Amino acid sequence: MSASILDGKLIAAELRESIKQEVDAQVAAGNIRPGLAVIMVGEDPASQVYVRNKKIACEKAGFNDVSEVLPANTSQADVLALIDQLNNDPTVHGIIVQLPVPKHIDPKTIIERISPAKDVDGFHPYNVGRLATGAPQLAPCTPHGVMTMLEKTGIPLRGLNAVVVGASNIVGVPMALELLNARATITVCHSATKDLAQKVSEADLVVVGVGIPNMVKGDWIKEGAIVIDVGINRLDDGSLCGDIEFEAAKERASWITPVPGGVGPMTIATLLQNTLKVAYHLD
Ligand code: GUN
Repeated sequence: MSASILDGKLIAAELRESIKQEVDAQVAAGNIRPGLAVIMVGEDPASQVYVRNKKIACEKAGFNDVSEVLPANTSQADVLALIDQLNNDPTVHGIIVQLPVPKHIDPKTIIERISPAKDVDGFHPYNVGRLATGAPQLAPCTPHGVMTMLEKTGIPLRGLNAVVVGASNIVGVPMALELLNARATITVCHSATKDLAQKVSEADLVVVGVGIPNMVKGDWIKEGAIVIDVGINRLDDGSLCGDIEFEAAKERASWITPVPGGVGPMTIATLLQNTLKVAYHLD
């Protein structure tokens, strides 16, 4: 079998277009534009790329982008004061603080200061709890974007054996909760997991987000499995690759995401979708 490609670039472009149309309709009806505030502290290079892409996506979708780039030595108290100000600003519907933050700032304290109603990253314990109790409000963007991609396969997730590799708060854990809510049977693997190859080989659906180039081998993949690669790694020769051996996995999978152009573009599109939802009180 040679897999069909799950084209995240295309699916994200369609989602962004539908968001833009909703914004146009709302603005034509006299409502305000969605406002998204992105706070970046310091100059992490990956974050700079991400924040720039967010800014472009906001402009194209007709959002008001409020980017706040703060020097690396900004105190935690000043970041919290900015969050308080944005929490109270009715023109701002979504607030995110780009991670990682510098070492003198505690990410947990920052995340918990964002109003859960404006937490469009879905990282606040309130929103994690909503997802964990099967009543999501604002769900983390990357895993939710993966769910949007999975819908495009037309394959029902109910009853599938789903293996999630990686247990981070940004990807693995919310991914497992999303799949559990879709009635898949979940195995979450991490660095202490024994016999990862065996676990992956039993998966009807495998989602990998660990940040280790080609860590999951193509010959671990079950014939016909759906394969989702959240990883994006830069190799010494400058090329990009995922966490899964793409060429070998493609020969066995039914559907597979490429890197780049797979899950990556879905994160920002889903961030806009979450912000739209807050701005216009959509479901
Ligand atoms: N750093 C890497 N991914 C993310 C994300 O989805 N949101 C935030 N805020 N920071 C990140």
